[in-house]
Amino acid sequence: MSVSKEFLLGLPKAELHLHLEGTLEPELKLRLAQKNHIDIGQSTIEEVKASYQFDSLTSFLMVYYPAMNVLQDEDDFCALAVDYLEKAKKHNVKHCELFFDPQAHTSRGVPFETVINGYYKGVMKGREMGVDAHLIMCFLRDMSADSAMETYKAALPYRDKILGIGLDSDERDNPPMKFAEVFDMAKKAGFHITMHCDIDQVNSIGHIYDVLHKIGVERIDHGTNIVEDPALVDYVIEKGIGFTNCPVSNSFVTSDMKGREIVYLLQRGAKVTVNSDDPAYFQSYISDDYYALAEKYDLSKEDMIQIAKNSFSISWISDEAKKKYIAMIDEYAKEN
Ligand code: ADE
Ligand code: ZN
Repeated sequence: MSVSKEFLLGLPKAELHLHLEGTLEPELKLRLAQKNHIDIGQSTIEEVKASYQFDSLTSFLMVYYPAMNVLQDEDDFCALAVDYLEKAKKHNVKHCELFFDPQAHTSRGVPFETVINGYYKGVMKGREMGVDAHLIMCFLRDMSADSAMETYKAALPYRDKILGIGLDSDERDNPPMKFAEVFDMAKKAGFHITMHCDIDQVNSIGHIYDVLHKIGVERIDHGTNIVEDPALVDYVIEKGIGFTNCPVSNSFVTSDMKGREIVYLLQRGAKVTVNSDDPAYFQSYISDDYYALAEKYDLSKEDMIQIAKNSFSISWISDEAKKKYIAMIDEYAKEN
């Protein structure tokens, strides 16, 4: 084993695939349930953890969405973001682009402004702590295209608080093209765009083709099924399109972490990155994901440094900021 956990913890990183709702730790869940008088069906941390039983994206989402009921007011959303950002700081995350799912809250009566203002307050506190945090608003793909459009319009008055637009939730029967119109509008309005292409979905490769050639995303979230199509692999390498990979999450919702695919893409020069997805549910924060991948696939320090550099180079920051963070990695590598 050539790369240590300590080295990976201290390595400067960007986190680009993190669902804020997936950072709801049992402690905070119970505290907010009590504060807001919400019966979540569990009253101890052990009981909450025992409810975390999933073996697919669908079964994970069935545990994930009901838990969000505990989030009610601005302070709750802010507390959730701050909780994550404090952990991110410990993992030496310098920059992060955080997914949030407004429809998971507006659909149960929480106003859009409560969600965005609460999360943004948390983001500002993160910046004060030295973590350059930003928000990516995701549409839930198992809701209608009309609902996504309505959410997009509700977000426009807050556009200075939103860096990009994404697509998540259950991919089955919900292909990327269902949302072509709203993503086209978002792109024309100057938002960055990305989409989940989850692991081993029905018609994964067709979805990856469409997000690349029809929607024109800048990144793909997950997307390792691309290895099944050499022409698409050549295309992403040529265009420098990045992947936000989540090895530990993959191992929960499929049979493995898809490390062979991630390593193959890395060796081909594709811009793969490592991220934690829903760390409270998979009990793995970003450095743990780095370590899990490095250990299982015997990756070198140089490999992990490349992954960290990729995380800044595919992030949505200025070229100047990218250079600064990449120099920081080189400095760290020299000293460690
Ligand atoms: N929402 C939270 N985690 C997700 C994932 N891995 N895929 C799709 N939607 C999600
Ligand atoms: Zn995700």
